[in-house]
Amino acid sequence: MSGSTLGKLFCVTNFGESHGPAIGAVVDGCPPGLALCEADIQLELDRRRPGTSRHVTQRQEADQVEILSGVYQGLTTGTPIALLIRNTDARSKDYSAIADTFRPGHADYTYWRKFGERDPRGGGRSSARLTAPSVAAGAIAKKWLAQTHGIVIRGYMSQLGPIAIPFESWDEVANNPFYAPSAAIVPELEAFMDQLRRDGDSIGARIEVVAENPPAGWGEPLYDRLDADIAHVMMGLNAVKGVSIGAGFDCITQRGSEHGDEITPQGFLSNNAGGVLGGISSGQAITVSVAIKPTSSIRIERQSINRAGDPVVVQTLGRHDPCVGIRATPIVEALLAIVLMDHALRFRAQCGTNGPAAAPL
Ligand SMILES: Cc1cc2nc3c(=O)[nH]c(=O)nc-3n(C[C@H](O)[C@H](O)[C@H](O)COP(=O)(O)O)c2cc1C
Repeated sequence: MSGSTLGKLFCVTNFGESHGPAIGAVVDGCPPGLALCEADIQLELDRRRPGTSRHVTQRQEADQVEILSGVYQGLTTGTPIALLIRNTDARSKDYSAIADTFRPGHADYTYWRKFGERDPRGGGRSSARLTAPSVAAGAIAKKWLAQTHGIVIRGYMSQLGPIAIPFESWDEVANNPFYAPSAAIVPELEAFMDQLRRDGDSIGARIEVVAENPPAGWGEPLYDRLDADIAHVMMGLNAVKGVSIGAGFDCITQRGSEHGDEITPQGFLSNNAGGVLGGISSGQAITVSVAIKPTSSIRIERQSINRAGDPVVVQTLGRHDPCVGIRATPIVEALLAIVLMDHALRFRAQCGTNGPAAAPL
């Protein structure tokens, strides 16, 4: 009912609110015997953390994870893993001015229409703070996928507003606050963001995420197609307005002779499918692209209404990300990892541990 649980065999249940005492996740279904400690998870949380550059929200959260259960003497036990992250820098007074009004583009209006009452502090349950537990759970999935299948999941920003970011090298991604795979473009991105902040406005972005080395055979034929589950989890991320896999919307103008990836005894000749055919992984890299909208909380005055239905002008002050896409890369990586681990376990449950019966490629 609440829509806070993801996955069938690797199940992640997310809880908490932006300005409550803590947020977290319960991860159920992780196989026993995986070496796991808080540092494994902290590594990924630190990549998502706010307050790490002038281009993101200045909320200072340590995002320290505590493992409360499911790990004994450094190994997962197969029982639920409870992950807790305490909120330490909530400034609820920042939200008193907008408690009675609805920010255009934010969840305030729809939460109020559905629930009647809402917790406006920090966006309550609609806050992107709730992506931290997803990143924590995704860290477990990433580690398990890497150890059991050699799968590497990594992402990068390919566009910031009007600026297309050329892919130059994976090595550059960790060297700048944008997760841009090009060093040369960074000064342009910085100048764009500095002007945007002066304008009190926000901007959208595009993030790519790739899973390398997946085996063929993961996914289900119909409603739980692997690509459907990937789209579901990505659309579940705050501010995502579009998800595409492989060639995505470019397939509209492609011909069959161009789009269909030819197969040779040595392997596929292209990857327009993005690694998924018929809802099942082909063994090629799984490539996903995500469109992220501009932040709704901006200093520029916007028309809205209050709870009584009267017209008001809304101006959002406080600490916000001027481009939420800047912090999205580790989150989309984590979400892809959670979906892939769930399907890995589902494949194992149905087909055994040996992989596809015939694997000529
Ligand atoms: C990493 C990340 C950070 C975000 N930070 C903010 C923010 O500072 N201010 C804001 O208004 N929205 C922010 N958002 C977006 C809102 O959470 C989101 O727009 C809101 O919940 C409404 O949901 P929707 O955009 O999916 O319709 C952020 C999203 C992400 C993924």
